[in-house]
Amino acid sequence: MSTLVSTPLADLLLARLSRDAAQPLQRQLYAAIRQAILDGVLVAGQRLPSTRALASELQLSRITVTLAFDQLQAEGYLQARHGSGTFVGHSLPSSRQVPPPATASVPPQTMLSQRAGQLLARPKTMLAPAGAFVPGVADTRHFPFAIWQRLQNRRGKQDAALLSGYDTSGGYAPLRRVLADYLQVSRAVRCHPDQILITTGTRQSLDLCARMLADAGDRALVEEPCNTSSRLVWQAAGLVVDGVPVDQEGICCDQMAVSGHPAPKLVLTTPAHQYPLGIPMSLPRRHQLLAYARAQGVWIVEDDYDSEFRYDSKPLPALQGLDDHERVIYLGTFSKVMYPGLRLSYLVVPSSLAPAFRVALTQLYRPGQLVLQAALADFIDAGYFATHIRRMRGIYAERQQVLRQALQQHFGPEFVLSGGHAGLHLTLQWQHPLDADGWAVRAAAQGLSLRLLSYYRQQAQDGNGLVLGYGAVATEDITDSVRLMRDVCDA
Ligand SMILES: Cc1ncc(COP(=O)(O)O)c(C=O)c1O
Repeated sequence: MSTLVSTPLADLLLARLSRDAAQPLQRQLYAAIRQAILDGVLVAGQRLPSTRALASELQLSRITVTLAFDQLQAEGYLQARHGSGTFVGHSLPSSRQVPPPATASVPPQTMLSQRAGQLLARPKTMLAPAGAFVPGVADTRHFPFAIWQRLQNRRGKQDAALLSGYDTSGGYAPLRRVLADYLQVSRAVRCHPDQILITTGTRQSLDLCARMLADAGDRALVEEPCNTSSRLVWQAAGLVVDGVPVDQEGICCDQMAVSGHPAPKLVLTTPAHQYPLGIPMSLPRRHQLLAYARAQGVWIVEDDYDSEFRYDSKPLPALQGLDDHERVIYLGTFSKVMYPGLRLSYLVVPSSLAPAFRVALTQLYRPGQLVLQAALADFIDAGYFATHIRRMRGIYAERQQVLRQALQQHFGPEFVLSGGHAGLHLTLQWQHPLDADGWAVRAAAQGLSLRLLSYYRQQAQDGNGLVLGYGAVATEDITDSVRLMRDVCDA
């Protein structure tokens, strides 16, 4: 077993220490020795100088060196042997022997579950997921972050002890109360605050519905096309997910029953603003869907993801508000009205399901974030939420107008345009197949994001459409971006 000649080690360590850095010297020394071990400069079994000797060579206090050694021992990098000194641990391989983590490549399918296989088998699309014209993303530059931060700070200071634990009640009660009022007024959702559960995103709401209302292998229906990751969440929960076509009135209820297939347990739909086609579900179709759900004992999951931004004067009320037989579960999110990284959303469940859902939410996900939820209740209560929505509705309406004009100017009547009465995107469909993959790749090279309609389809289909988001592109950039899009399509 070799003993270190201490001077080269001291030189190496000295080169990695900076007395001017903000990080404490003890932490720097710990990191320097650890790195030397990982790099194989120090090898297993090698003896280190005593803390006294090393402190003197590095001109550090002995306590600094001792603390660094203690930390390395606690993590197993070093081992102290009574009476004989401190040695590099035997159980740690050097980084030369450790292959780098395979972040860039997809792991071999044999190591993964079938569910993971479904999750990873995505069509190519998510090129350049930012800016013009990435769909579904709100513009956060106008969000009143200073007010929001102040409200969070106040709650964090005043109520930290009260709000820092897990939550077992389905979410902060005053938030559920203001939400119930807001949903009643703005979306005609009929609910008691106890029917509301606060979640960390629509995906969690969907996951909870799948786990509570269906078993692995049960059939569930989604719209075709639909939000891809919503479908994947249900598949990952073990459901067999079938797509049902959408026509000009919404999901085609008369195509839900397929001979030889069991009745579905769940149907996921976006009645206010079909995602991604942008069509509102007609009133007759809503009643047909509710009648089907009642007759078949099916649960309807209504994803009302962006209807706060609506531009027509007479919006249809939420499906939930039309339901007299407790078949609808209503989902909403703050990702579009506030900002996506907030991770706050909610579901409104029939009162008969609420107690069970509360228990499951607690057992499955251990919710918390109560300071955030309290700040959000204050934000809504004080009127900031309504003001922000009003302001953004005006901005988005103008953007949609500019986008429509630019499309008209550069593309003319080439495609059929849908959506536009609400939300943050327009959908363009051509009558013939396109080289849409090529467009998307060329657009990405120009910093433009062209999302293919085919991305949202479960059934492979020739690309004939694009979904253009106007939420995250500045109004003054829209016309130039459409001109660029024309060039890309012509290239
Ligand atoms: C159809 C649909 N539902 C819901 C959401 C919001 O999801 P989350 O609440 O997880 O941010 C999105 C976001 O893009 C969406 O496209």
